[in-house]
Amino acid sequence: MAIQLGDTAPDFEAQTTEGNIRFHEWLGDGWGVLFSHPKDFTPVCTTELGEVARLKPEFAKRNTKVIALSVDSVDDHRKWSGDIEETQGHRPNYPLIADPDRRVAQLYGMIHPKADNTLTVRSVFVIGPDKKVKLTITYPASTGRNFEEILRVIDSLQLTAQHSVATPVNWRDGEDVIVVPSLSDEQARAKFPKGFKAVKPYLRITPQPNK
Ligand code: BEZ
Repeated sequence: MAIQLGDTAPDFEAQTTEGNIRFHEWLGDGWGVLFSHPKDFTPVCTTELGEVARLKPEFAKRNTKVIALSVDSVDDHRKWSGDIEETQGHRPNYPLIADPDRRVAQLYGMIHPKADNTLTVRSVFVIGPDKKVKLTITYPASTGRNFEEILRVIDSLQLTAQHSVATPVNWRDGEDVIVVPSLSDEQARAKFPKGFKAVKPYLRITPQPNK
């Protein structure tokens, strides 16, 4: 069965470009992003992995580690990293998992046989400090992801884990948020000293509480 939100992220041991890891131990107490790409030495993947290297400080600010996976070998990952640096200006500064026997890919349902029998699709798993899966996204091989969007979701996940709010469409860190429907108006008044605006009884807007 596919991995669902709230499941514990399966633990595994694997070879990476930064040595052998046990996944849960590598995650430690922070947040993590595990993402797969179809193949080394391919154009879209080259742009994606360079972009994630560029954004690494943004992930670090959010106490979030990133790790990539494909069914290629550590040797190929290392050779390809040179191309990524040359063409994208950023060398992967995070581990790339080698999964030639597809063990981790199968564990995480990253191979979708009707899309491709042997290669991983573009999966993203965001994992919380409790090792639970907080977000899953699947893109086809032909479409590169927007990793700024993954950062935006992490901002939302971290905010909503701490406060009784949800984030509206296209929300960005610092913008107004929504009071969760499970709070009564009286509870909301107590929790949000800056107050809230009830556009509808079920649509109550409040300034982001941690700003
Ligand atoms: C790419 O990364 O460009 C790619 C990989 C596999 C299939 C199609 C495109």
